[in-house]
Amino acid sequence: MDNNREHISRVLISAEDIREKIQETGAMISEMYAGKPLLIVCVLTGSFIFTADLCRALSIPCEIDFMSVKSYSGDRSTGKVGIVLDLKKDISSYHVIIVEDIVDTGLTMKCVSSMLRERNPLSLSVVTLLDKPECRKTDFTPDVSLFRIPNVFVVGYGMDCDEQFRELPYVAEYRP
Ligand code: IMP
Repeated sequence: MDNNREHISRVLISAEDIREKIQETGAMISEMYAGKPLLIVCVLTGSFIFTADLCRALSIPCEIDFMSVKSYSGDRSTGKVGIVLDLKKDISSYHVIIVEDIVDTGLTMKCVSSMLRERNPLSLSVVTLLDKPECRKTDFTPDVSLFRIPNVFVVGYGMDCDEQFRELPYVAEYRP
């Protein structure tokens, strides 16, 4: 796989639009969670840039933890995911926000949110940068989605194609 920019067919969401929307979302989260113990859960790897920008848009204190998940046996259709890297914290004394890069079929977030809900956080919500509602295969709906996009494969702003293009500052449509 090469990192050739010829694979970038168009910029779908500019760095400026992402920045603006994150500021709005950060302000909304800060208002909702003021005075509450807040834990931001970054789901690696795709949401690392979004998480870094979102937590810096908060005007309230928060803690941050990381997890990484993988679909069982490479079969995404089962909707079962395994934890590759688990959280370090006991989340039972926190309001938890799971930060995701993109909700596509919804299988990953449905499974991750139900796994974390079993650990009895004070509350749990999912904030996703992108939502592809046309691709949904479950009844999962993120609590907050910054941008709805059509059914196209995207890269950039943390998201990859075979580990390439994560470093782009914008979200772009990938052309094979
Ligand atoms: P879901 O379980 O189908 O909702 O998939 C969610 C995960 O699939 C995301 O966290 C991404 O890692 C990956 N994914 C889905 N669509 C895209 C895309 O267009 N570009 C990059 N990764 C994607």
